[in-house]
Amino acid sequence: MVITRLRVAGCVFAEDEARLLISAARTPADLAAMVDRRAAGLPLEHVLGWAEFCGPRIAVDPGVFVPRRRTEFLVRQAAALARPAPRPGGQSLARRRAVVVDLCCGSGAVGAALVAALDRVDLHAADIDPAAVRCARRNVAAAGGQVYEGDLYEPLAAALRGRVDVLVANAPYVPTEAVGLLPREARLHEPRVALDGGADGLDVLRRVIAAAPPWLAPGGYLLVETSERQAPQTVETVARTGLIPRVAGSDELDATVVIGARPALQGGPG
Ligand SMILES: C[S@@+](CC[C@H](N)C(=O)[O-])C[C@H]1O[C@@H](n2cnc3c(N)ncnc32)[C@H](O)[C@@H]1O
Repeated sequence: MVITRLRVAGCVFAEDEARLLISAARTPADLAAMVDRRAAGLPLEHVLGWAEFCGPRIAVDPGVFVPRRRTEFLVRQAAALARPAPRPGGQSLARRRAVVVDLCCGSGAVGAALVAALDRVDLHAADIDPAAVRCARRNVAAAGGQVYEGDLYEPLAAALRGRVDVLVANAPYVPTEAVGLLPREARLHEPRVALDGGADGLDVLRRVIAAAPPWLAPGGYLLVETSERQAPQTVETVARTGLIPRVAGSDELDATVVIGARPALQGGPG
């Protein structure tokens, strides 16, 4: 019955979705309401209230961007680089926590996954959308991080300047004219501010990249998700800031990440 309803509504993975909805519903009435919402086109994650991301479940409230599988590649790349470089006269590498900033954090999925993947992290996440900030607080506070509301770097404490080991951003990067071509679920149920990256899709990313260097610690990294097509322009933008750019890609996840490295201090071991 549930499967048929979902199949008729066009859900390709109707059996899997039915199983998840049945296990999430507390009562038959609850299940009926969930199936109605899904059949009406709400993303499955908004109906369930969570998405699976890098293994664990991340809370995703209605109206908040649903974390995508491809972004797990950004997490993997960031986790591999999040080894804090020792600071001259500072704590040893083994004792210091990595300082991680997750800009445009949405539900906070990326930051929360990094905390789960790494031993010792001082996590700061930020988003301009109050609904995203509320949702991220649930996910990130559980992981011991802080979430701020505001435009890109604006809400971050000045004390973080020059101290960030890994700065990640999955900012909106869909060109404005392509937003209308996105699947219905995204167009109707995710906020425009989470999708629309301006005329060439790079408006927000350019601002993230241009302002990144002063926040990075020596030996720190900026990592941004982009598309394969946008990667050359993203690399050029990173190079213009003085960071050393490179591209990492995953065919399996159809994911592209541009990484900018701030050179370590000369003479330092990092
Ligand atoms: C593509 S979603 C990614 C969310 C999350 N990082 C993830 O991967 O699931 C982009 C996010 O950027 C936020 N955003 C857009 N413009 C912003 C700005 N100027 N400052 C801060 N956040 C912004 C949106 O609210 C949205 O949550």
